[in-house]
Amino acid sequence: MPAKLDHTIVHSSDRFTSAHFLTDLIGAPEPKAYGPFAAVPLANGVTVDYADSIVKPDRLVMQHLALLVSEEEFDEIFARIVERRLPYWAEPAHKGSQQINHRHHGRGVYVDDPDGHAIEFLTHTYVMDGTG
Ligand SMILES: [Fe+2]
Repeated sequence: MPAKLDHTIVHSSDRFTSAHFLTDLIGAPEPKAYGPFAAVPLANGVTVDYADSIVKPDRLVMQHLALLVSEEEFDEIFARIVERRLPYWAEPAHKGSQQINHRHHGRGVYVDDPDGHAIEFLTHTYVMDGTG
């Protein structure tokens, strides 16, 4: 492999609100200020840097973050999703309301962050198996 993802920037209407939404769901420490970002370091060394957007919230370009978690972590995260009464979906584009999926011999679920960025939690990666 020629490269590894180090960080990505997610534009948000309020960087700490969005970063906290993620850390709260995954049970991670509070996001840290890093320059203009609210940084959320993930277990594999990739950092999600939330930035206050200079465009209006309705002009934000929606992004998709897929987070691979263990079965136990999925249980914990899904319990928080239900406890917080968040809408969730089994499929992208808001299909399969209030359901999870069982693709690729695992489980997956999608939620929207406060700006509508899609956050997917999955227990089994599907990138390399050719089934999409
Ligand atoms: Fe995905």
